[in-house]
Amino acid sequence: MQTQNNMLWVEKYRPKKIDDLTGNDEAKALFLEWLKNKRHTKKAVLLYGSPGVGKTTLVLAASQELEFSVIEMNASDTRSEKTINAVAKPATSYKALDNYTKNKTSGNVLFLDEVDGIAGNEDRGGVNAILKVIEESLVPIILAANDPDIEKLRPLKKVCLLVRFQQVRIPLIIALLQKICMLEHVSAEFEALERIAQNSKGDVRSAINDLQSLSEENHRLTLQDTMMLTSRNKDITLDDMLKRYFSAQNIAETSTMLAFSNIDYDDFLLSVSDNLPKRYSNPSELAKAYDYVSRADLFRGRVGTENWHLLKYFYNALTLASAINPLSYTPFTFISPPIRIITLFWTKGKRSTLDAICGKIGAQCHVSHKTAKHDFIPYIRVLLQKNSKSPLVGWFKFTPEEVDFLLKMGRF
Ligand SMILES: Nc1ncnc2c1ncn2[C@@H]1O[C@H](COP(=O)(O)OP(=O)(O)O)[C@@H](O)[C@H]1O
Ligand SMILES: [Mg+2]
Repeated sequence: MQTQNNMLWVEKYRPKKIDDLTGNDEAKALFLEWLKNKRHTKKAVLLYGSPGVGKTTLVLAASQELEFSVIEMNASDTRSEKTINAVAKPATSYKALDNYTKNKTSGNVLFLDEVDGIAGNEDRGGVNAILKVIEESLVPIILAANDPDIEKLRPLKKVCLLVRFQQVRIPLIIALLQKICMLEHVSAEFEALERIAQNSKGDVRSAINDLQSLSEENHRLTLQDTMMLTSRNKDITLDDMLKRYFSAQNIAETSTMLAFSNIDYDDFLLSVSDNLPKRYSNPSELAKAYDYVSRADLFRGRVGTENWHLLKYFYNALTLASAINPLSYTPFTFISPPIRIITLFWTKGKRSTLDAICGKIGAQCHVSHKTAKHDFIPYIRVLLQKNSKSPLVGWFKFTPEEVDFLLKMGRF
């Protein structure tokens, strides 16, 4: 069994009680009213709306709280009409069993989760298969669908009470994330939680998953840590970014734009570099701008794939390159995509350090460069991360720069 520690937070914090489910108050009330009172007059209810908003959780929590026995079935796990019937049909006889047992449950309900998989699929009997189950069932039926588009499910409309779930509102998601942070001892910047919530577009499941993956290890979370999330601005192209970058009116505007975009940082850096000569005709301004770009590159290298908190220095340096002489800006046509020649120039330093390291490993362990790189370096890095003064350093004759390189470089 999984321990509390390696559990997915979405499972660990899946609400057990109806009241713990956040948002969608009307949908909740409508469903509960059906379950308590209306299930005899309208045999089926359909909960529908985008994923991760609490449909499955509500059904399970409510059945538990109101003491229904749930005969549960995830429709997308099954292959065909035949399977549905095999599971659903016997369920209809549970009602009769109720009469003979003296248990105190409120009765049985059949729960078909994620029915949209079947509804849109004619090979699997389509909507008709579901309609047939509803028709023949002797017990009330709860259906749930993740497709917010009701068109596909329209034939179900006549026989089901429809309960529409909306995306959960951002402030509610933020509050939930704050609660989880408290319970998990994560110290998080508010802006970081805000960004995760906004990025989730109302999907609580994905917000909690993002929170866990970004903060579980270090128990802290800053806005910079959230940069790798696909951002709201994901539709912005490199050209749009360049335009906004070069025409920005102030430094704050530029750095905000950089922080909230999800363009490839390396491509953007290269493109800025390519376009600086078109932006600054004055040689001393151009020199200054390149100086900032080279500083940005330095930080980009240190960020690697791990030290995301250093990204702010990258943004800052890059921002300054656009702001040498704001008054001299006139629109120009961009060179884009980036000229790759510069990449070679940039990675030369990295490559020669790596070559030297591989050479030293090869000399001591009698292995090829390739083996040194792929089979030895990952382990050496782990050992150095545990103890950067390990006797290995002397044995391999690594220079302090090489140790630094091994520690800082997330990738080659
Ligand atoms: N409204 C909500 N309140 C609290 N947690 C939620 C809510 N909606 C979803 N979650 C979280 O996301 C997970 C998945 O929710 P689930 O009910 O399976 O979503 P759906 O069935 O709508 O796709 C839950 O285990 C829970 O951790
Ligand atoms: Mg579900």
